[in-house]
This record gives sequence, C-alpha cells and structure tokens, in this order.
Amino acid sequence: MWFAIICLAIGFTIKILHDWRHSSKFPPGPRGLPLVGNIFDMKRLVEETKFYSHAWCRLADIYGPIVGLKLGTAEPLIIVSGRDAVLEMMSRPEFDGRPHGFLYKHRTGGERRGVIFTDGDIWRNQRRFVLRTLKEFGFGKMAMEDIILNDAVSLTNIIESLAKSGSITNLHNITSIAVLNSLWTLIAGSRFDLTKENPKLREVLSVVNDLIRNSNVTGGILTHLPFLRYIIPNFTGFTVLNQRLARMSQFFRSEIAKHKQTKMHGEFRDFIDVYLAEMEQSSSIISCFDEEQLISVLKDLFTAGVETTNNTIGFIITHLAVRQDVQGKVHEEIERVLGKEILPRVAHKNRLPYLNATIAEVSRLANIGPTSIPHRAMIDSTLLGYEIKKNYTLLANFRSVHMDEKHWGDPKEFRPERFINDKGDYVEDPWLMPFGLGRRKCLGEILARNSVFLFTACLLQKFQFTLSPEYPHPNLDGVDGFTIAPPDICVNVIKRK
Ligand code: HEM
Ligand SMILES: *[C@@H]1O[C@H](CO)[C@@H](O)[C@H](O)[C@H]1NC(C)=O
Ligand SMILES: *[C@@H]1O[C@H](CO)[C@@H](O)[C@H](O)[C@H]1NC(C)=O
Ligand SMILES: *[C@@H]1O[C@H](CO)[C@@H](O)[C@H](O)[C@H]1NC(C)=O
Ligand SMILES: *[C@@H]1O[C@H](CO)[C@@H](O)[C@H](O)[C@H]1NC(C)=O
Ligand SMILES: *[C@@H]1O[C@H](CO)[C@@H](O)[C@H](O)[C@H]1NC(C)=O
Ligand SMILES: *[C@@H]1O[C@H](CO)[C@@H](O)[C@H](O)[C@H]1NC(C)=O
Repeated sequence: MWFAIICLAIGFTIKILHDWRHSSKFPPGPRGLPLVGNIFDMKRLVEETKFYSHAWCRLADIYGPIVGLKLGTAEPLIIVSGRDAVLEMMSRPEFDGRPHGFLYKHRTGGERRGVIFTDGDIWRNQRRFVLRTLKEFGFGKMAMEDIILNDAVSLTNIIESLAKSGSITNLHNITSIAVLNSLWTLIAGSRFDLTKENPKLREVLSVVNDLIRNSNVTGGILTHLPFLRYIIPNFTGFTVLNQRLARMSQFFRSEIAKHKQTKMHGEFRDFIDVYLAEMEQSSSIISCFDEEQLISVLKDLFTAGVETTNNTIGFIITHLAVRQDVQGKVHEEIERVLGKEILPRVAHKNRLPYLNATIAEVSRLANIGPTSIPHRAMIDSTLLGYEIKKNYTLLANFRSVHMDEKHWGDPKEFRPERFINDKGDYVEDPWLMPFGLGRRKCLGEILARNSVFLFTACLLQKFQFTLSPEYPHPNLDGVDGFTIAPPDICVNVIKRK
C-alpha cells in the first residue's frame, strides 16, 4: 500500500518536474515554478506594466521574438513579437487553429460553434458564408454605406442637442449605440430610431459589453483552472457569466423566431434571412448550419464588431481633443473638400488623406486589438527554430510591430504626418496591421473601416471637440481588457460655424 503511494508520489513529482523543465527547443521565457508555471511571473509583470499587451512587449524585449510561457495546467502560451516573426506565424496554415479553452466553448453552448473560436471545416464554412453574405448585403457597396451614413447623421443630431446643455461626459456610449445600430441593421434588418430611448437596443448593448469585459486575453482564471467553477462559482464570475450568456442567447433566439414567422419566400431582408435559407437548403446530417450555429455566429459578430469600432471612434475623439493642432488640420481638410453641406462618402477617402492618416495613426498608437485572438498550433511544428507542439496557444503581438522604434523612429508620438508623403498623399505602411493578417484576418475589416471613416468625418464636419477643464489629462493608454478601451473622458462639443 505505502509502496504504491510512494511510487505514485514519485511518479507525480517526476511528471511535474518534467512538465516544468521544458526541452531545449522550447521558446525562451521566465523560468516559473512547478505546477503553476509562470502565473505569478505574469501577475507581477501585469501589475507592473498595467496592461497585458505591455507585459508581452516587455517579455519580447528580454527574451526575443518568440517567448514561451506556461500558465497553470493550460497548454503553453507562445508570444510572437516583431514584424518578421508575426508575418511568419500568420503565413503558416498550421497556426490557424483556435484553442480549446473551456470558456471559448462554454460561450457557444458547450460546443465549438461560430467563427471566432472554431477551426477546421466549421470555421472555413462559417467564415466563407459570413463574408459572402455580408458582401451581398453591401459590404463595400452602397447599401452598407447608406446604413452607416444614416446612423452617423442621427449621431450628429443627438450630439448637437446634447451639447446645448453643456459638456458631454458619456460620449462613447452614445457612439456605441450608433455603431451597434448599423451592425444590427445589416444583420437583423430592422432599424431603431436612435433619437428615441430604446430599451431593446440598450439591452443588446449591455449584454455585448458585459461579455467582452468578462474575459481577457489569456482567458481569465477559468480557462486555466476550470474545475474552480464547481467550488466557487460566484468568485470566478461563473454565475454572472452564465446569466449574461443566457440573456444573449435568449435575445437572439427570439429574433430568429421572429424572422421565421415573417419571412417571405425568395426575398432576403438581412443576414439572418440568408442564414435561415442556408439551413433549409443544407439540411443534411453533416451540415454545420443550424440554429445553434447561427446564434453563435451572431454572438461572434456583435462581440467582435461593436466594441472594437466603438473604441476606435472613442480614441480618435480623445486624441483629437488633446491635439487641437491635428484636429484643426482635419477641420481644414474637410472644409476645403466637402464644405459644410456635402455629406462625407467613402469615395471621398482619396480626397481626405489627412483624415485617413489620422485614423491610421490612432489605430497604430491605440492598439485596440493589441494582439491577435489566440491561435492554436494544429500539428507539431517549429517557428524560427523553436519547437511548437500541437495545441500550444500562440498570440501575435501586433503592438510590438506598431511600436517598433527601428521602423517608426518616434513610435510614442502621435503624428499622422508619418502616413503623408511630400505631395500630401496618404501612403500605406505595411507595418500597420490593426486587423491582423492572413486567413484569420478580421472579417469585418471593410465594414469597420467604412464605419470609422464615415462616423469620424460626419462628426468633425460639424463639431470641434475640446477637453473639459475638469479632466485636462486623459490617459491615452486607455483601459485594458479583451480590447483596449479609450479612457472615460468629458468633452466639450462646439458646433462649427
Ligand atoms: C476597428 C474595428 C476592428 C478591429 C481593430 C478589429 C480587429 C480584429 C483582429 C485583430 C482580429 C484577430 C485576427 C486574428 O486572430 O489573427 C479580428 C478578428 C475578427 N473580427 Fe475584427 N476588428 C474590428 C471590427 C470588426 C467588425 C465590425 C466585425 C464584424 C462585423 C469584426 C469581426 C471579426 C471576426 C468574426 C473575427 C474572427 C475571424 C476569424 O477568427 O476567422 N471585426 N478583428
Ligand atoms: C450612458 O450610459 C449610462 C450607464 O452606463 C446610462 O445611464 C445613460 O443613459 C447612457 N446615456 C446615453 C445617452 O446613452
Ligand atoms: C482577467 O480575468 C480575471 C478573471 O476573469 C480578472 O480577475 C482580471 O481582473 C482580468 N484582468 C484584466 C486586466 O482585465
Ligand atoms: C451566487 O450568486 C447568485 C446571484 O448572483 C446568488 O443567488 C447565490 O446565492 C450566490 N451563491 C453563493 C454561494 O453565494
Ligand atoms: C463604448 O466605449 C465606451 C468608452 O470606452 C464604453 O464606456 C462603452 O461601454 C463602450 N460600449 C460598447 C458596446 O463597447
Ligand atoms: C486610407 O487608409 C487605409 C489604411 O488605414 C488604406 O488602406 C487606404 O488605402 C487609405 N485610403 C486612401 C484613399 O488613401
Ligand atoms: C489537443 O487537444 C485536444 C482537445 O483538447 C485533445 O483531444 C488532443 O489529444 C490534444 N493533442 C495533443 C497532442 O495534446
């Protein structure tokens, strides 16, 4: 009996030590402790740097472009930094997977569904379908542009009436409603009147918002110690998470039911209609188009699309409120090209290079998505000579590329001119990659670019934003989370004459 226990204990210790001491090909990184690995190293580093993304950059400075971390019982986490390593990682199909983390599955009903956290055939089919359908509904075409413009105009009207009664504290939650509305129209057809209070729209917004803030890049504590949820569900936030997930599923389920009731044969009003038709058509057993899948795709689109776009617009306003000189140049350009009355259109992008450069510079500096969503190695492989085993998690560190001193010279400066050449034209810089690259690149890129451009152009045509004296120094690093959010600011809005 005792012999068996001692043998087990020795075996267990050897296993722990073996897991702890990686092979010599494992990417370099802090040494860590047995069992917990680098959890405490990371905790310390994040406390010091305040942001996960800054912590990754610090690790890259110390250990190089490929850093290996072990966080509890989870698969090793590999941080890939610098442009060369990021390009290499993104060009390799074997790194296109997504991790099997507990929370990733849990958020789509306990199975891998949707686009963001699937891989293999499900991902390929869903992604292709979503891209194609959104394109048909005007991705990059007039229809989408009109939808966005409509919301942008409502937004300027709302802000105008709010500005009459002093400075605006909560500007971003107004912009987020407009952003959400464009996406909602594309996906579910109906439009909400933004000038009226709308409890339903507000509900989606709050659910979407909760979901994102509830998890962070490494997946939070639950991904690493999933058994904790049975012991201390309230402590880990599991109870709250479940309530929110249920609320969101319920919301979409009722929307889908409504679509089923009101659908007309052969006529598609929106994304949900097209998806329902696809479900009927491919009703074989192997099909990955079903209602649960649709709910997951909807969750994915809203989670990935609303906060990112909202945050980008929020950061643009914050930066411009701080840098009145830059805002003045944008005003001057809009004045010269559009005047007061002509509504901005996507086609005007060519003639508004400074505005375009300003948006690019905010994307570079704000790093709203500072890393990729976690990728997973789907086979044993190597990256720049280091061993990457199957199921390792990889993160592409975009921030390290956007803040590379050798390339940008003065990466910490906010300087839109870096994207403008002698002739005053916008010049593309391949080091800017806010939407990622490769096959996993953001699938809402065109929608996001057009939304940000049109919203910003409409707002700046009408208003000047200045900092309220009560909050003179907003922290331009923003607020950490799954995405980086702009600081809460209070702005004064002045109607331009
Ligand atoms: C300014 C706004 C946005 C930024 C900065 C952004 C950035 C990103 C980034 C960095 C990724 C990860 C790429 C990777 O994991 O390698 C991503 C993925 C994704 N984005 Fe966006 N995004 C934005 C807007 C949107 C919008 C509006 C939508 C939806 C309509 C959207 C839908 C998605 C989806 C579904 C994925 C997952 C793609 C996949 O796993 O195959 N994004 N985005
Ligand atoms: C902004 O958000 C707060 C709560 O977060 C809410 O009470 C308020 O009504 C919102 N304002 C607008 C204009 O949406
Ligand atoms: C990450 O997630 C954990 C658990 O969900 C949470 O306690 C922690 O505050 C989060 N960190 C950040 C920076 O959001
Ligand atoms: C956990 O939270 C829920 C509501 O959020 C509450 O009803 C329940 O009593 C809590 N459980 C414990 C053990 O505190
Ligand atoms: C939009 O951004 C503001 C400011 O960061 C934030 O308070 C709000 O919750 C965001 N809304 C969404 C849906 O992301
Ligand atoms: C505007 O900027 C984006 C990058 O942010 C670039 O891809 C696009 O070509 C630019 N458009 C023009 C007309 O300069
Ligand atoms: C990878 O993860 C999957 C799912 O958790 C598991 O079934 C498989 O055995 C793992 N493979 C390796 C080599 O670790």
